[in-house]
Amino acid sequence: EKRAVGTAHSKIILIGEHAVVYGEPAIALPFPTLSATCIVEHSYGKILFESEKYTGPLERIPERMKGLALCINETLLELGQKQANLKITLISNIPIARGLGSSAATAMAIVRGLSNYFATPLTKTKLKTLGNIAEKYAHGNPSGIDMETVFSDVPILFQKGFMPKPLFIQKPFYLVVADTGEIRNTKLAVASILAKRKQDPKHIEHSIHLLGLYTRETKDVLMAGDLSRLGELLNLAQIELKNLGVSDEPIDHLVNVAKNEGALGAKLTGAGRGGCIIALAENGDHASMLCKRLREAGATETWFFKVEQDSEQLSCEE
Ligand code: MEV
Repeated sequence: EKRAVGTAHSKIILIGEHAVVYGEPAIALPFPTLSATCIVEHSYGKILFESEKYTGPLERIPERMKGLALCINETLLELGQKQANLKITLISNIPIARGLGSSAATAMAIVRGLSNYFATPLTKTKLKTLGNIAEKYAHGNPSGIDMETVFSDVPILFQKGFMPKPLFIQKPFYLVVADTGEIRNTKLAVASILAKRKQDPKHIEHSIHLLGLYTRETKDVLMAGDLSRLGELLNLAQIELKNLGVSDEPIDHLVNVAKNEGALGAKLTGAGRGGCIIALAENGDHASMLCKRLREAGATETWFFKVEQDSEQLSCEE
């Protein structure tokens, strides 16, 4: 029996979220610890969809997941398989709506799974365009950074409308990710900044501009391997994200705990208002200690990972 699999990893925004929507650069990292997998099999009759959130015919998928149905139908059209009888199963360990790119990874896993099932390779651009159908539905006006990062095997500097650039990382560093457990809504967070910008353009544009400057400096700092300045830049970015109104009490709490426990810097990651924080650790042992402290302080889940250059992967990039 024919069966195919598609996968995609989650993502972490190191710096530049929100400002990226307004054309500033942002830096994002693939986060392979968490990933989405899509299994495509033959079925009889309609397209059946199975996931933790919904199981049943694709045509009856709930409204909030409609983006996935649009993405599946458009992909099948692209593959010339409009009449396919399929069972599409989604398995993911990426917490949903926490800023880790679960929607982008899910969409990318599905598109890859379908392309593999029909043994019809799609170009990189096509894969991302199809995946973004679901993103647009879920997020309104995404910058595209999530899709680029779940697609990339290396850290990237992303700017709307440009090809993402692989980043040079001189010195590996350990990043802790801690989940507040609070569900966030990217669409609302993005819309809240847009509304504030209408009311008080100077104030909001200043924060966006500063976030852009911090991101540009982060790129240089990563190239120079200056981890203490990297920590400072993460802290500065958090101040501006607070200013934009996308931090909240659970985030501030975890950020403060991380800093009190010696993190070189800490900030929210992704859209904010719930979701996850990241903290820069001194080394692997410190990262593991920070995880423990953050869980004691209320984080529902924590992870840490080493961010480093992979020269082999880098040279494979398009
Ligand atoms: C979400 O991961 C990142 C935001 O900047 C939104 C976007 O870029 O589409 C908040």
